[in-house]
Amino acid sequence: MDQYRVYGNPISQSRSPFIHQLFASQTQQPLNYLSELVALDSFANTVRAFAKSGGKGANVTVPFKEQALCLCDQLSSRAQLAGAVNTLTFKEGQILGDNTDGLGLVNDLLAHRVELSGSNILLLGAGGAAKGVVLPLLEQNPETVVVANRTMSKAQKLVEQFNDLRLSAKSFSDVNQMAFDVIINATSASLTGDKLPIEHSLINEQVVCYDMVYGKEDTAFLAFAKQHHAKQAIDGLGMLVGQAAESFYIWRGVKPEVSTVLSQLRTAL
Ligand code: ATR
Repeated sequence: MDQYRVYGNPISQSRSPFIHQLFASQTQQPLNYLSELVALDSFANTVRAFAKSGGKGANVTVPFKEQALCLCDQLSSRAQLAGAVNTLTFKEGQILGDNTDGLGLVNDLLAHRVELSGSNILLLGAGGAAKGVVLPLLEQNPETVVVANRTMSKAQKLVEQFNDLRLSAKSFSDVNQMAFDVIINATSASLTGDKLPIEHSLINEQVVCYDMVYGKEDTAFLAFAKQHHAKQAIDGLGMLVGQAAESFYIWRGVKPEVSTVLSQLRTAL
């Protein structure tokens, strides 16, 4: 049976084996997908040994996505622009790297019938999570994408890398005076429970709010969005399943159906 892995540190929280095994049985693909904890200094060796032993591919999660980029013989343009790899494919002695996180987000937004074309999007954060979704968002033909970050220089640096007139960097105080159709939280504030410095005037019945983080309880950002009557307040569980579906497609050439797996995962949270 074809072998796949997900590598991270920590890894016990990973839902990827659950998701990929469901995809495999749904599409009747003969594969085995396991999670593996990798010591911080052993990532490259672990991946190479797995590829050599006949492994077909792997997902990569925190903190190895940037290291994975350096390991690849070939990179997709979306992995290059994201500066990170979450999907490795081993083929004819080569390691191919891709990044499906952004497509996972975009597909989940579209599945929620969120209009991205012609919209004004606010992306909160300028770390790895934000960078990974910029290109797929721009590919949806938005009017503008504004990146707001606590550390303004990081937002500016991110924007410069893309060289796209629709993309700009702003401070939180700037964006608090503006209006957006879609607000995406790509900061790690949800993981620490921190409240973001955004004003409630940004949120109303026309505005869709999305948090890349998911959990049993609403994140502080989604609770704030609901409190101020956002049109939709969506967590990142669909993005997780969506990025997995795109990895599965790269490896197997078959698109799994996402919504049933998503509801099974939601129940298991
Ligand atoms: P990731 O890979 O998850 O994006 P990261 O690269 O460490 O992680 O980036 C974390 C992002 O969350 C950054 O944009 C960070 O802002 P700074 O660049 O100013 O540090 C943002 N962030 C984290 N905690 C925050 C908070 N309490 N308020 C606002 N932004 C926060």
